Amino acid sequence: MSVIELKNICKSFGDTQVLRNVSFSVNKQDVVAVVGKSGAGKTTMLRVMNYLIPPDSGEVYFHGSRVVPNRRVLRTVRSKIGFVFQRFNLIRHLTALDNVAIGLVKVKGMKWIQARELAFSKLKDVGLSDRVNHYPSQLSGGQQQRVGIARALAMEPDLILFDEPTSALDPSLVGEVMSVIRELSSSGTTMVVVTHEMSFARHVANRLVYMEDGRIVYDTTPERFFLSKDERVKRFLNDFLEAV
Ligand SMILES: Nc1ncnc2c1ncn2[C@@H]1O[C@H](COP(=O)(O)OP(=O)(O)OP(=O)(O)O)[C@@H](O)[C@H]1O
Ligand SMILES: [Mg+2]
Repeated sequence: MSVIELKNICKSFGDTQVLRNVSFSVNKQDVVAVVGKSGAGKTTMLRVMNYLIPPDSGEVYFHGSRVVPNRRVLRTVRSKIGFVFQRFNLIRHLTALDNVAIGLVKVKGMKWIQARELAFSKLKDVGLSDRVNHYPSQLSGGQQQRVGIARALAMEPDLILFDEPTSALDPSLVGEVMSVIRELSSSGTTMVVVTHEMSFARHVANRLVYMEDGRIVYDTTPERFFLSKDERVKRFLNDFLEAV
């Protein structure tokens, strides 16, 4: 059974149709890279997956059950789907430790003392045990993003969604974040990663989803995608290589 499934999702913002009949499912231990030009609908698709954006039509299934937008269901679904944002979204006035712990207290009802213990072990997993008492402003972008990943991991989610986790980073900091994500993928974490890191898409993901104009044009293996003879794909890869 899939962890999450989108069926015939359509979404418009005003007159702009952003998702056109998108169907897509993620199985346990899948590492899906989502690629496509700016404006293709990648972020919107990710946000529909955890119902941060409700679709206009179509259905979302989580472990086979239809997600309906009531508070109890959304709370459960969101506590089981981690989200790692492009711009980290850490709380400025909380330390790294408390940024990770707070979700455990607020969503899981844990006591602070236990939440901090678990938060510490997750920060250790992402190589930040010596930065737990730092505030976001005292951390580099790569470190902030690793706090963001630790925060997602602490909830023990069934699936983690990453939205261009390294695109706000200085190029010299991309490696440390990608290596954490690569480690997670090899330990069996189910994930969907919207990314411009073609090396990740090619060598780490087991599935590659290519979006264009609100549609999933390919849902295939990275090998097939990167060797594709399709002009659209070749153009995308060429433009992309020129841009970097
Ligand atoms: N809240 C919103 N209100 C209006 N239009 C929106 C909103 N969110 C997204 N859009 C539009 O929907 C389209 C798809 O946006 P989306 O952010 O999903 O693209 P993307 O593939 O993630 O692009 P990028 O690679 O630049 O992040 C764009 O044309 C965007 O302007
Ligand atoms: Mg986006």
